[in-house]
Amino acid sequence: MKHAVTLALFTTLSLSVWAGPEEDRTAFVQFFEKRFPSIALEEHVNGAYALDEDKRKQWEALESGFPPYEDAVFDGEALWDESFANGASYSDCFGDSPAVKQHYPLWDAERGGVVTLELAINNCRESNGEKLLDYTDYAMVALSAYVAFESRGEPIAIEVPDQAALAAYEEGKAFYYQRRGQLNFACSSCHLEMAGNKLRSERLSAALGHVTHWPTYRSKWDEVGPLHKRFMECNDQVKAKAFELQSEEYRNLEYFLSYMSNGLPLNGPTTRK
Ligand code: HEC
Repeated sequence: MKHAVTLALFTTLSLSVWAGPEEDRTAFVQFFEKRFPSIALEEHVNGAYALDEDKRKQWEALESGFPPYEDAVFDGEALWDESFANGASYSDCFGDSPAVKQHYPLWDAERGGVVTLELAINNCRESNGEKLLDYTDYAMVALSAYVAFESRGEPIAIEVPDQAALAAYEEGKAFYYQRRGQLNFACSSCHLEMAGNKLRSERLSAALGHVTHWPTYRSKWDEVGPLHKRFMECNDQVKAKAFELQSEEYRNLEYFLSYMSNGLPLNGPTTRK
């Protein structure tokens, strides 16, 4: 019976998904189910606040009322609705609904690379003769905050459609498990092996759900910022080389990490300490 179910699942999935990533994801999810048996998988979208009750209370206070990412969502909507000089707009690239975040990052066979939402926004601008936005630019953060907000509740749906995509996924995976920096930590050292433990005053969050809520307002940054900025910070933390926002390394890393969170509901933007 169990065999029959597995077989049926495999037949449906194998059309669009390679066995490797799906096996990785199952193992990833099971690791956290076993480690945190009393925490529902979906709760991990709240990061460290799923694991620390005191910190969760402070966070809930910050989220209620007028959360600090609200302006970015509002400004992002206005930017999204503006027409380009040629009369086209973002909806000509993304479709009528801005609720598309669940499909990013995606594999672009034509370009031969992983395309994140931010890169897709710039690709859209480029194909309409508009100037590219810098990835630290407020307009870019606001546009992605608006798309994140509109996509809330959508389950992450990342696909690895072919062999070239699989190669990018494998690069991202290798990055995740590779020890680096003077402290010789991998991403997985802190967010898998030590997830739930305290590191100085911080509770280490689970890797599962790490991609669901970006861009995010961070008190330490005093602004809304993108996921790759957090990657840079985590690299810096162990005195390892940080890569640039939207570098190939970080796009592949985001691809792998997003696949691991497939099925979890999007909940961005949000706030973190
Ligand atoms: C020395 C431990 C350490 C390492 C290694 C590390 N991080 Fe982190 N990371 C932290 C701490 C501490 C935080 C803040 C508390 C938390 O949310 O876990 C954090 C937060 C994060 C967050 C934000 C979580 C959220 O809920 O918003 C992401 C995403 C993240 N790390 C990804 C990575 C990635 C990817 C790597 C590898 C490039 C990495 N981290 C390596 C310690 C680490």
